[in-house]
Amino acid sequence: MRVTGKGAMMARIQGVVLLALVLAACQADGPAVQSAPAAPLAAAAPAPPSADEAGRLHAFAQAACGGCHAIERSELSPNPKSPPFEDIANRRGLTADTLASWLRSAHNYPEEMDFDLDPAQADDLAAYIVTLQHDGYKPAI
Ligand code: HEC
Repeated sequence: MRVTGKGAMMARIQGVVLLALVLAACQADGPAVQSAPAAPLAAAAPAPPSADEAGRLHAFAQAACGGCHAIERSELSPNPKSPPFEDIANRRGLTADTLASWLRSAHNYPEEMDFDLDPAQADDLAAYIVTLQHDGYKPAI
């Protein structure tokens, strides 16, 4: 396609306006960034846990869930039907809050997952799993 004259000018102006909007969205703090569709995970990510806390969360996730799920990055799940935690963590729109509330209601679980978590454990697991979020995640398969 060849765009000339007024059309090309309009296209260029629209491009500049769009770029300005994107830049503005990136610079804004707080809720404006959260509502930008391109960065829901990054915007929602809480501060990373301290090293001690991270070790505790990791050990708990390993003990409670590691029999079936891969709990670290770039691992395959011991039980191939279980999605790796990295895969769960990087689902679009998932936050520690949405995951914790899912984990708090046992009636949601697939039948393979037969366990009860108290609310603090659900929060811990959600906090651990969101540490596996990163930009540009691609599922292994
Ligand atoms: C006995 C094996 C087993 C254990 C232990 C287990 N899971 Fe699962 N989990 C599964 C399987 C299998 C699936 C996939 C079920 C499906 O896709 O229908 C799954 C799916 C999930 C999902 C995704 C559900 C969805 O909407 O796709 C989450 C989140 C999850 N497990 C969290 C956990 C957490 C947290 C623990 C530890 C407290 C845990 N699981 C322990 C087998 C297990």
